[in-house]
Amino acid sequence: MQVIRTIKDLRSWRNEIGNSIVSLVPTMGYLHEGHLQLVEEANDQSDYTVLSLFVNPLQFGPNEDFDKYPRDEARDFELAEKAGVDVVFCPTSDELYGEEPSVQLIVTKRVNVLCGKSRPGHFDGVVTVVSKLFHLVQPHVACFGLKDAQQVAVIEGLVAALDFPVRIHRVATVREADGLAKSSRNVRLSAVERDMAPIVYEALCIGKTVLTTGGSANAAVETVRNKLADSAQGVFTIDYVEAYDFPSLTPDIQLNGEVLLAVACQFENARLIDNVLVQLPEKR
Ligand code: PAJ
Repeated sequence: MQVIRTIKDLRSWRNEIGNSIVSLVPTMGYLHEGHLQLVEEANDQSDYTVLSLFVNPLQFGPNEDFDKYPRDEARDFELAEKAGVDVVFCPTSDELYGEEPSVQLIVTKRVNVLCGKSRPGHFDGVVTVVSKLFHLVQPHVACFGLKDAQQVAVIEGLVAALDFPVRIHRVATVREADGLAKSSRNVRLSAVERDMAPIVYEALCIGKTVLTTGGSANAAVETVRNKLADSAQGVFTIDYVEAYDFPSLTPDIQLNGEVLLAVACQFENARLIDNVLVQLPEKR
């Protein structure tokens, strides 16, 4: 496995491999099994897998956890190598962004709901870094996890809007045995919070049943909200429970379409997000 830190070295590696099929797995590091599942699925679809490791300052708000975001490069290299990554690209912020940019990307659709609503500018930062990575790595396939379903919707919108010749491969959420979605931020849960956290997925599964048995999106949202509120015991607060058509993220739920049922809960030092994608039955 090669570790590449500069744009110049990445470009020369990319030139060397020529027409081989390349996949990209963009991450902010502190790798866990969720990230490694993306790598596994990337490996299956390409000759070379590039994993980017970069905590992107542009996607963090002023009061968010950029400084406190967990980092462990040596451990990440070890896990990436074991998983079969060919190249780790880990630039510094100066290397990637240099001077103040003279062009800015702004996302106008799929961002006024869910996390986008409470994190203004977040997805602008995400599409900026992902666009740069697409230009530098020139992947044929890029893997993104449905754990961050809104991010998948926004990236699919980016690819369509800017005509990137990249296929987006969606990867199902990897979970702990008790259902908690794997996340770099889970390490910040206290023991009591960790015990409580699986309720988020449990509530979503109950909501899914409401949808698959003919209930409305509103009924599913209310069911999830009530389940969470009844279980919270002051350990966490509900930030949102919402349902949208996927990937348009409009309230326009289509018969026979996919519905995203999504939750964000605030624990003392971690905000957990999770979701389920529900394929609606043909007749309701
Ligand atoms: P990060 O949070 O490190 O996540 C990197 C990728 O791993 C994302 O596509 C995310 O959806 C996926 N992922 C995280 N947890 C997962 C899980 N439990 N199961 C499956 N996939 C999971 O998302 C980002 O970084 C950044 O926004 C990035 C796209 C790298 C741009 O900076």
